Amino acid sequence: MHHFAYRQGVLHAEDVNLNAMASQVGTPFYCYSTATLTRHYEVFAQAFAGADALICYSVKANSNLAVLKTLGRLGSGMDVVSEGELRRARAAGIAADRIVFSGVGKTRSEMAFALGEGIYAFNIESEAELAALSEVAAAGGHEARIAIRVNPDIDPRTHAKISTGKAEDKFGVPYGRARALYAQAAALPGIRTRGVHMHIGSQITDLKPFGDAFALLREMAGKLREDGHAIEFINFGGGLGVPYRGDNDVPPHPEDYAKTVRAAARDMNVRLLFEPGRMIAANAGILVTRVLYTKTGANRTFTIVDAAMNDLIRPTLYEAWHEIWPVREALRDESSRTTDVVGPVCETGDYLALDRALPAFHEGDLMAVMTAGAYGAVLSSTYNTRPLIPEVMVAGGDYGVIRPRPSYEEMLARERIPEWLK
Ligand code: LLP
Repeated sequence: MHHFAYRQGVLHAEDVNLNAMASQVGTPFYCYSTATLTRHYEVFAQAFAGADALICYSVKANSNLAVLKTLGRLGSGMDVVSEGELRRARAAGIAADRIVFSGVGKTRSEMAFALGEGIYAFNIESEAELAALSEVAAAGGHEARIAIRVNPDIDPRTHAKISTGKAEDKFGVPYGRARALYAQAAALPGIRTRGVHMHIGSQITDLKPFGDAFALLREMAGKLREDGHAIEFINFGGGLGVPYRGDNDVPPHPEDYAKTVRAAARDMNVRLLFEPGRMIAANAGILVTRVLYTKTGANRTFTIVDAAMNDLIRPTLYEAWHEIWPVREALRDESSRTTDVVGPVCETGDYLALDRALPAFHEGDLMAVMTAGAYGAVLSSTYNTRPLIPEVMVAGGDYGVIRPRPSYEEMLARERIPEWLK
């Protein structure tokens, strides 16, 4: 469910005509819908109504300050993976005690910064990281609240590059070693064990791996309590998938996901933590791009657009499918033909869609690449010295540019010629 729809023959973001926006802002650009962001957050939150739940939106999915502020106002906490993300969350007004810090490679200086801010918890991913956190916390006179991320060795049945809960993945501590590490943690200065954490992967469209993982989490939390640890929260991670491709991937409804969580947490008297990213942001964003040229190759047709792999890398990196809609509705009635939608970047992997049946787009037509609100702008780069594209946020009939396109002067001014080349 999202708020991008045709009105009077033109695709709108809420009440804003995307044709008009494109003329104002220039293409390509990302466009986010506040109503959609809000709706997704609320559907997730509603599924846990009545429970002591803290939803920590996973900042990595879309870290624009305006997105964070929108979610923060709804009551969201944040899951961060770097000092930069923590600074963003704080700048967007998120209370430190609603922030958790994940990631296998937190540096000591990041730890010290997070301790100074007073975050809710660190998700610990290894023995070595735990020892470092203990040293940093003790040296600064802090107490670090932690959960250990347990790796359950479960296949989340998603793309290999976004699976995190299998034994061979770099994440978490093996299930069989977790209890011993908790015992170690309890004896370390500056460390308070408070919870247990798991995150098995992203774009998961099947409840079964969640159910299996959460049953192990429950078992682990029980054992840890038997061992004398105060387990106040269970962090179920993120990972709930979204329907990128109509009927092809049908993710579980948050209500059903919640049933699985509630079953795993029954009678435990724990706080429930979550780190959803994609489920909140993906459908709330689109990438709007303009067709530059069409071209017929020896055996394929190419629709060349002004957005490229540096703006949206998901198709080439994860073989991801994003629906493509024409901004002008009438185009939808035209007979379709099969084409590759490609960008100007000088790589064969530069495509937004391959072998796609699309209406005949012509030069100058606008297309919307759907479900691009998560892992879109955040993964973009300036490859080929292409400026980062603007991000625009809509709320009803209003819109604001929430990250402007940098000028070429600004881009070049970031670099320096060393003395010997002058
Ligand atoms: N928690 C942790 C510890 C994570 O590593 C992640 C995502 C999340 C939560 C949020 O997961 P979500 O609810 O969004 O599935 N760039 C890839 C996705 C990478 C996910 C990384 N970790 C993509 O575009 O598909």
